[in-house]
Amino acid sequence: MRLDDRLEALLARMTLEEKIGQLGIFADMLRPFAADVNPEMNELNAGELREQIRAGRVGAVFNGVGAVQGRESQRIAVEESRLGIPLLMGADVIHGMRTVFPIPLGEAASFEPELAERTARAAAIEATASGLHWTFAPTLDIARDQRWGRVAEAAGEDVVLGNAFAAARVRGFQGSDLTANDSMLATPKHFAGYGAVMGGLDYNSVEMSEGTLRDVHLPPFKAALDAGALTVMSAFNDINGVPASAHDGLLTGLLRGEWGFKGFVVSDYTADFELVAHGFAGDEREATKLSFTAGVDMSMQSGLYAAHLPDLVASGEVPMDVIDQGVRRVLAVKQAIGLFDNPYRSLDPEVEAALDPQALHFDLARDAARRSIVLLKNDDDLLPLRKSGQKLALIGPYARDRDNIEGCWTLFGDTRLHVNLEDGLRAALEDGDALDVVDGSGMEDAIDGGIDAAVEAARKADVVLLAIGEPQGYSGEAQSRTRIVVPAAQQALADAVAATGTPVVVLLRHGRALALHGAVRDAQAILATWFLGTATGTAVADVLFGDYNPSARLPVSFPRDSGQQPLYYNRQRTGRPELPTMSEFKSRWREMPHSALYPFGHGLSYTRFVYGDVELSSDGASADTLDWDGTLTVSVTLRNDGSRFGEEVVQLYIHDRVGSRVRPIRELKDFRKVALAPGEHTTVSFTLRRDQLAFTTRSGAFAAEPGLFDVWIAPDSEAGTAAQFTLARA
Ligand code: NOJ
Repeated sequence: MRLDDRLEALLARMTLEEKIGQLGIFADMLRPFAADVNPEMNELNAGELREQIRAGRVGAVFNGVGAVQGRESQRIAVEESRLGIPLLMGADVIHGMRTVFPIPLGEAASFEPELAERTARAAAIEATASGLHWTFAPTLDIARDQRWGRVAEAAGEDVVLGNAFAAARVRGFQGSDLTANDSMLATPKHFAGYGAVMGGLDYNSVEMSEGTLRDVHLPPFKAALDAGALTVMSAFNDINGVPASAHDGLLTGLLRGEWGFKGFVVSDYTADFELVAHGFAGDEREATKLSFTAGVDMSMQSGLYAAHLPDLVASGEVPMDVIDQGVRRVLAVKQAIGLFDNPYRSLDPEVEAALDPQALHFDLARDAARRSIVLLKNDDDLLPLRKSGQKLALIGPYARDRDNIEGCWTLFGDTRLHVNLEDGLRAALEDGDALDVVDGSGMEDAIDGGIDAAVEAARKADVVLLAIGEPQGYSGEAQSRTRIVVPAAQQALADAVAATGTPVVVLLRHGRALALHGAVRDAQAILATWFLGTATGTAVADVLFGDYNPSARLPVSFPRDSGQQPLYYNRQRTGRPELPTMSEFKSRWREMPHSALYPFGHGLSYTRFVYGDVELSSDGASADTLDWDGTLTVSVTLRNDGSRFGEEVVQLYIHDRVGSRVRPIRELKDFRKVALAPGEHTTVSFTLRRDQLAFTTRSGAFAAEPGLFDVWIAPDSEAGTAAQFTLARA
C-alpha cells in the first residue's frame, strides 16, 4: 500500500515515536465521559494527555464528548505538534447518541434493515455534532447462547439477518460521503467469533470449526466491509487457542489477504495486554510483538505499543516496514474522512449548540421502538386495548422507572428526552388519571407491602399491564447469566397479580431472549419490549392501544428453560432427532421438548395473515429444479384476512437434505416486510440462486452441493409446509 505523495512525504518525516503515536488510542481525559466503563489501564490525566498530543504521541482518543474541548484537543494536535497530524476521535455510539434507539437486538426484531440504517444515520448526526468521527459499532457477533450478555448488542442468532443489519448500520453511520461533517466511521466488531464464547460466559474461549467460523460468524463482517467499513476491532477471545487479537490467520491471512481489507484494525480495550493473562505471551513486550505483527494496527488504551515497539524495532524483531504499513493504514483512514484537509470537521461548537435531538429524532425513535416490539402472545385478542372505558393498572418496577430505559450500551443518552411507561401511557389514554400505577416490587428485591398494593390494584382493574423483566445492567459486557429468567422478586409479583384472575399483559423488559415461567409465561398477552430507548413509553402505548399494529419478529429463540442453552433454530441435524415416533434414546431433554417456547421469526399481529402454498417457477413456468447457473422463483400468496392494516415479515427458509457436512434443520435465506390493508392480498416472490445455498463443504470449498432441498415461505422458523426442488449439477 502506498499513500498519495503528500502523505508519503509526511510519513518520511515522521520519527519512530511519532509513527507509534499514530498506532495508539487513549481514553479522552480532556473531555471524559463515563470513564468507569472500562477498567483502568494506562489512564493519562488531562494534563498528561495534552502533553502527549503535543509531542505527537497520540493519534486517536476515545469516549470523550463535546465539540468545544474536542476542538481544543485538535488544535493542539494540528498547531502545536511538530507534524500537525490531526487526531481521530472515537466513541462507543452503539444505539444512539443523545436520542437513544432500541438496543440492536431489539431493532433487529423489526426485520427492517433500512430502519437500522436510519437510526445509525441519526446517531451519526448527533455524534458528529458533539465532536466525534468514529464509532465502535456495529457489533456483529452472531450470538446463539442467550446466557451471554452481549446478545443485546448485535442482531441475534441468524446469519442472513445479521448480514443485512451489518451492512445497513455501516451505511447509516458512514452516510454517502465519508468526508461530510456528519459522516461517522463504523467499526465492525468483535473480530471474530466472540459471539460463540463457551457457555455464554463473557471473554471465555471459543472452540469452533473452520466451517462454522466461515459460514456463521464471519459473514456479517464481510457484509460490513462490502458496505464500506474502514476499521475493524479485534476481539478479546481466543479461537481454538489463538487469541483473536494476535491471530495472524484471521487478521492478516483472511481479512487482508482473502478479503482485501485496506483499512486498519484496532484492538479491543487492552486486548493486546491481555495476551499475557491468556498465557499466550510471556510478557508485555512479547504481547506487543505478537499483536502488532499479527495485524492489530492500533492498540487501545494499554500503552503497550508506545512502551515496547521502539525496542522491538531496535532489535529488528519488528521491521520498520511493518510499522510503516500500520501507520499508512491509519493515515489513509484519516485522509478518507477528510481530516487532513479539514481537521476541524465535526468540531463546530455552533453545530453542537444548535442540535435539537428531540425535534430531529424523537419521531424516528418512536417509530424504531414500536417497530421493535414483538407481540409474543395475545390470547382471545386481549390486545389492543381501548383508550377509554377500561380500568388499567400498570404494575411493576418498570412502571415509573427512568433508569432502565436505554439498555446496556449508551454513554451519552440525554435522559431528559426519555419517556417512561407511565408518562407514555397516560399521554395516550383519553383519561390519563384512569391509570393506576403501582411498583409492586423492586428490580431485584421485594418492597414492603408491594405485592399487597399490586394485588389490590389488580383486583380493581379490568386489565393489568405488568411491567417486569431483567434490569438493563443484566445484559451487555460482562453480564453473563446462568439462569435467564425474570428476577425472583418480580416473578413473585407476577404470580400474585395473576392469581387475582384479572387478565394480564406482560410488558417484558430484556436484553436477551428469556426463559419465561409461571404467571409470566401464562399471561394472556406478552409484549417483548427489549430496551427501547428514548421513546419507550410512547411506543409501548402505540402498540398497546393499536395505533401501531405490531410487526416485529424474534431475532433470537425464546427457550422453555435456561438449561436448553444454546438453543437456536438453525441448529444442525442430529442422528437422533426428537420425533414423536422414536424411543426415548433420542436427542431430548427429560423435562421438556427440545424446541423453543417462541421460535426465531415468531411474532403476532392484530390482524391475521394467511399464506397460500409455496409455488416454484423458473422463467414463468412451474419448475422443481434450480439450474446450476439459473434462478428459481419461490412465491406465495399472502392475504390479510383480518380487519386491520398490518405488516407481515415473510420469511424464506431452505433445508439442504444431504450435505458433505451436516446441514442445519432450516436456514433463513431471505425476508421481506409486506404491508396489506384488510382483505387485500398479494404475491410475495423471492429469487433463489445457487450461491445462497453454498456453505463450507467438507473439502473446505465454499460451494453449493447438487441435490434435493426443502423450501418454505413461512411466518416463523417452525411454521409452514415445505416444497421441494433439486439443485441440478453443472
Ligand atoms: C470493550 C468492549 O468490548 C468494546 O465493545 C468497546 O468498544 C470497548 N470496550 C471500548 O469502550
